[in-house]
Amino acid sequence: MTEQDFTLTSYTSNVENGSVKWESPSNIALVKYWGKRENQIPENPSISFTLSNCKTITEVTYTKKEGDNFSFDVIFEGQINEAFKPKIQTFFERIEAYVPFLRDFHFKIETSNTFPHSSGIASSASGMSALALCLMSIECSLSELEVNESYFNKKASFLARLGSGSACRSVEGELVVWGNNKSTESSDLFGVKFTEDIHPNFKDYQDAILLVDKGEKQVSSTVGHKLMFSHPFAEKRFEQAHEHLAELKDVLISGNQKRFIEIVESEALTLHAMMMTSMPYFILMKPNTLEIINKIWQFRVETGSNICFTLDAGANVHVLFPKAEADKVYEFIKTELVAYCQNGHYICDTVGKGAKKLAHISD
Ligand code: DP6
Repeated sequence: MTEQDFTLTSYTSNVENGSVKWESPSNIALVKYWGKRENQIPENPSISFTLSNCKTITEVTYTKKEGDNFSFDVIFEGQINEAFKPKIQTFFERIEAYVPFLRDFHFKIETSNTFPHSSGIASSASGMSALALCLMSIECSLSELEVNESYFNKKASFLARLGSGSACRSVEGELVVWGNNKSTESSDLFGVKFTEDIHPNFKDYQDAILLVDKGEKQVSSTVGHKLMFSHPFAEKRFEQAHEHLAELKDVLISGNQKRFIEIVESEALTLHAMMMTSMPYFILMKPNTLEIINKIWQFRVETGSNICFTLDAGANVHVLFPKAEADKVYEFIKTELVAYCQNGHYICDTVGKGAKKLAHISD
């Protein structure tokens, strides 16, 4: 599919108002997206587990208006929020060509997260995908053509990507691939559900997110992606991501836990190695991030557990493990790892199936 396939060409002007509500989860990448070209095209393919408990709930109320401007209010957790507006303005500008009705309505965007705002958990994936899904539902009620589920999901993911790259992997579950590659069905334009039979070892995988540092990070992902342009190791890294994805595909089918751990941890450390070797260089891990990683390695050696870690662009640690080990691992977290979490705070999540529509009322 090409960009043109996502342009809404004809729609009715009879709809005066309505409201739509979606919840959309966060996701955690196993092979990382780090580096992008213009128009949010990734430099390398990535794959993620869709999460379940960490999500954004967004309701968009739309009312017909006069005038040619974008008009919207953002209410975050019950309060008017001006800080989010520039990001949404940019999002609207990027997607306007595909959803031409944006200037016809005033939008009230009411949004909240199930995870604490200042937790260091990026809300851009869940937030942008929830908003994109709301806009897709509005498109359906205006569209003069029948919109099928497959097109709906693809276009929602396509729009979400233009808001934040990783958001395109949050529409569906349980595993989603984004970025052209030779090993899986894929696109640079939207996330594609990984449809191979996943081995039971990787079903219902658990993710305990250890909140090491809840502060605003010093360097945004957007800046980090840009630093891959002039990065001395960029080409090799992009190649490696292709290789890791190809191998991870086989691992997910065969159930090879040892190799899963190696690929996932290597991806996390490579992501941070890219940050440390860019110019300017920066470090997002904190001392406690390393303490936790060492404890996880020690626990794995001592108990033979299949626990492993991954990292986002921040200091928090995602602890991944099979459901069958949940009791043992949570005991370990409570006794050994909680001491390294800010205010002892961690979030228990599991792999989920993607976004859900909660309501849609249209006149
Ligand atoms: C480290 O999707 O937040 O989480 O496209 O600029 O919004 P933008 O970046 P973003 O980058 C996330 C990068 C990552 C790895 C990943 O999720 O694949």
